Amino acid sequence: MKISSLKLVNFRNYEKIELDFNDSLNIIYGNNGVGKTNLVEAIYALSLTKSFRTSNDKNLIKKDELSTKIEGVVETNTTNSYQVILNKEGKKVKIDGDIISKISDYISNINIVLLQPEEQMIFTAPPSSRRKLLNIEISQLKKDYIIYLNNYNKVLKQRNFYLRELYINGNASKDYLNILTKKLIEYGKKIYDIRFEFIEKINTYINDCYHNIFESGELKIKYVSDYNKKNEEELFNIYVKNYNKEIILGKTSLGIHHDDLVFMLDNQNIAEWGSNGQRKNAIFAFKLAEIEVFNKEKGNYPILILDDLFSALDNNKIKNIVKLLNNNIQTFITTTELERIDETLLSNAKLFNVTYGNITEV
Ligand SMILES: Nc1ncnc2c1ncn2[C@@H]1O[C@H](COP(=O)(O)OP(=O)(O)OP(=O)(O)O)[C@@H](O)[C@H]1O
Ligand SMILES: [Mg+2]
Repeated sequence: MKISSLKLVNFRNYEKIELDFNDSLNIIYGNNGVGKTNLVEAIYALSLTKSFRTSNDKNLIKKDELSTKIEGVVETNTTNSYQVILNKEGKKVKIDGDIISKISDYISNINIVLLQPEEQMIFTAPPSSRRKLLNIEISQLKKDYIIYLNNYNKVLKQRNFYLRELYINGNASKDYLNILTKKLIEYGKKIYDIRFEFIEKINTYINDCYHNIFESGELKIKYVSDYNKKNEEELFNIYVKNYNKEIILGKTSLGIHHDDLVFMLDNQNIAEWGSNGQRKNAIFAFKLAEIEVFNKEKGNYPILILDDLFSALDNNKIKNIVKLLNNNIQTFITTTELERIDETLLSNAKLFNVTYGNITEV
């Protein structure tokens, strides 16, 4: 999978930009604050229709402007043009000029694996961040996943509402709670199965990725879920047993909305035992494993974005990684320190020099 060209209109600090990319390595360099991350953020948003560093789409629109447009041509087995248009009212996405009304039909088309310096915070962040990571990755792989997730969240909300209703009105019927519980289990189980399968696949690669590049040590991800190894009937019985407790609490106490990932290095939780470096390496290994999973599932390598490369890794590790990345993986690297990039790498790359709001192909 390759993005061959990108056009931006009023995106972040860019008024108008048109670029053609290299099929393999693209290096984007320039001083702090000039717009390097903005550029890779645009590629990411072209794929996922949202940013990795703001949940408010409006931040992507250039200051004092009303809308932004990101447009790119992406080659997989076919060549297609993609557009994401954002304005104050909302967003529109198009493929080959046709509006796509369901976001889930759009976001599984362009696959991105992103690594950015903030990513290692994932281990110490609350579980919701790790679920978010899972959701972003899986939604690129499985179209229906987001639909199940939206349905689950809708039922969860209704169920919590009804639990509070039951608390106020003790005589209200539990039949409706049964119905909501069954619905919750139905969607929750689908999500659980997909998450389980995804993590299994990651686990087949992550350990090799980890110690091929970095050091010895066994890395594995543990998927922690209330739904672990339980069928729908068993789950229903557990919920029923907890009804009274849940009514008092006014919320659903079990479910995939509590799922978590634990990264185990040599059988120890890396969040509690791992060094800073080991955590950086672990998240990197996860991303590399993901590249393989995407390729296996989709028959195409995803686009790889390494934002602020040197703040994430030292020179030696970068060398090892680049050796592993074959030319089939289109890669975008941003850095302030071009001089630290290896000669042979430079000679194979297309360079983009960024000055504030402006990009020139070198
Ligand atoms: N909506 C916006 N409109 C105009 N300018 C914006 C907008 N959002 C961000 N900026 C500007 O973009 C710049 C930041 O760009 P970016 O994060 O891409 O920098 P960078 O080159 O990656 O820097 P660093 O090397 O420090 O990571 C800031 O100067 C900021 O003011
Ligand atoms: Mg940056």
